[in-house]
Amino acid sequence: MLTNENILNALKEVNDPELHKSIVELNMVRNIQIEGTHISLDVILTIQGCPLKAKIQQDIEQALKGIGASSVSLTFGSMTDEERRNLTASLKSENVTNQGMPKMLLPDSGVNFIAVTSGKGGVGKSTVTINLAVALARLGKKVGILDADIYGFSIPAMMKTNEKPTMIDQTAIPVVSNGVQLMSMGFFTKDNQPVMWRGPMLNKWIRNFLVNTHWGDLDYLLLDLPPGTGDVAIDVAAMIPQAQEIIVTTPHNAASHVATRAGLMAQHTKHAILGVVENMAYFEPTDGEKHYLFGQGGAQNLADELHTNVIAQVPFARPAENTGSSVYDEHSIVGEAFTNLAEDIIYQEQKLVRL
Ligand SMILES: Nc1ncnc2c1ncn2[C@@H]1O[C@H](COP(=O)(O)OP(=O)(O)OP(=O)(O)O)[C@@H](O)[C@H]1O
Ligand SMILES: [Mg+2]
Repeated sequence: MLTNENILNALKEVNDPELHKSIVELNMVRNIQIEGTHISLDVILTIQGCPLKAKIQQDIEQALKGIGASSVSLTFGSMTDEERRNLTASLKSENVTNQGMPKMLLPDSGVNFIAVTSGKGGVGKSTVTINLAVALARLGKKVGILDADIYGFSIPAMMKTNEKPTMIDQTAIPVVSNGVQLMSMGFFTKDNQPVMWRGPMLNKWIRNFLVNTHWGDLDYLLLDLPPGTGDVAIDVAAMIPQAQEIIVTTPHNAASHVATRAGLMAQHTKHAILGVVENMAYFEPTDGEKHYLFGQGGAQNLADELHTNVIAQVPFARPAENTGSSVYDEHSIVGEAFTNLAEDIIYQEQKLVRL
């Protein structure tokens, strides 16, 4: 028999698609009426015109039919301002300690931070960030990308997403693309206008991105840093000392002065270095040998200088694999290189946990 209680139990399994929390826990289910096997109820959405209404409706119907409902009718409403404020406060208390520190920064938060950096621009930091994130997500990890390239944000365009984060009051729900949660300054500027902030304002933004974003449970947060040793790298270092760095280089950009700069940066930030990724390492046509267009050995020299290892050699994408998006197909040579790297990173992390 259908009762209020077993209806609520069934609906506990239905999550708000954006907040990834049970709609019962979020107090979105109201006014349940049962007439035989027909159920009607009100669903109170967090925001008006919630784009994922159809998904919620479908999930509710499925859950209730699973416990024997023959038909379900839903009436949608939206939370009052006060309800929304309470929800934001409760989301925030999950994200932030009493001292105002993002909980994800606590040593036992379980979030692995990986900052992707380089001594020089244009070597493929964003490409590495995106494809490593997508590869980790494909392997079942919960992954976010924080586009910390505040002035030169590129992640939304490179991942070809036109979505914007949903805002519940001041809390942003990240955009999800290819199974990865994204936050970028690019979501908050009008028509891709450049960002002019400096110093303290900038620092505040990185903090805001951590505090005022509902990331949910994450296994990895990848930070796409701007090149060099600028403000952002220093702020990230101050705020996330536990981040590990991946240094990206191309074979010919690993010249010693660049290496020194990358080395200085790593010393400066005191971040542990996960390793060097050599991007555009070679070109390999489908039916031929590898061509080392930019020479060989540069990344290894850099790794030696930084007392670390080359953890991946990412080839040039084949022309047919360049589809306009910077997310390379899992089965392309670039995609495979990132799957291998993601597997190695997960393996290393598990080894550390076992120690
Ligand atoms: N392995 C690759 N094969 C083919 N093209 C690539 C590869 N890696 C990067 N690219 C291309 O090279 C260009 C620069 O890459 P990307 O934007 O990732 O570099 P970046 O280091 O983030 O640059 P910036 O310093 O400007 O932020 C992009 O057009 C990207 O699509
Ligand atoms: Mg970039």
